[in-house]
Amino acid sequence: MTLPLNRALGLIREVDDFPEPGVLFRDLTPLLADPAAFRAVVGGLAAAVPPGVDTVVALEARGFLFGAGLAAVRGLGVVPIRKPGKLPAVADRVTYDLEYGTATFELPVDVLAAGQRVVVVDDVLATGGTLAAAAGLIARAGAAVVGAVVVLEIAALGGRDRAGVPVRALHTV
Ligand code: PRP
Repeated sequence: MTLPLNRALGLIREVDDFPEPGVLFRDLTPLLADPAAFRAVVGGLAAAVPPGVDTVVALEARGFLFGAGLAAVRGLGVVPIRKPGKLPAVADRVTYDLEYGTATFELPVDVLAAGQRVVVVDDVLATGGTLAAAAGLIARAGAAVVGAVVVLEIAALGGRDRAGVPVRALHTV
């Protein structure tokens, strides 16, 4: 079954005051749980990948879901950038600011080679801090971020400018 992309994206649910008062949370779980919607969105992301990419980097946690799907569709491998304490061997790490709080990302050893051309995948682009941090880790490993693809961009938070890499979003609010 297929579903138009705009109908799939319409399944994103807005939740007031999560994870803290004043924050409007975009919940993509209804989209993920709907087979036709998930298929449509992964297909949309796969079509948005810039030319010349040879690997996918997916950001924990929700970026894993879309990044893995996209990588399989495009016949690429997927490198997970992880939250702390999950990897047995860490190549590099970075701490960054979020819309709410701070976080740390870690890059696994021996899975991202210098010279590789990467697309970064995540669910949501908000302030851009997450994407900028990931791009920094990838660059320090000697790989090149050709671009990033996300399902949803929250334009008012200015993340596209902060991210520092070309971003394609399936939907912008
Ligand atoms: C959310 C989202 C993006 C990031 C976007 O992740 O999945 O990765 O925030 O925010 P930014 O553009 O302001 O940096 P979160 O850190 O909540 O982690 P999760 O995916 O593990 O839930």
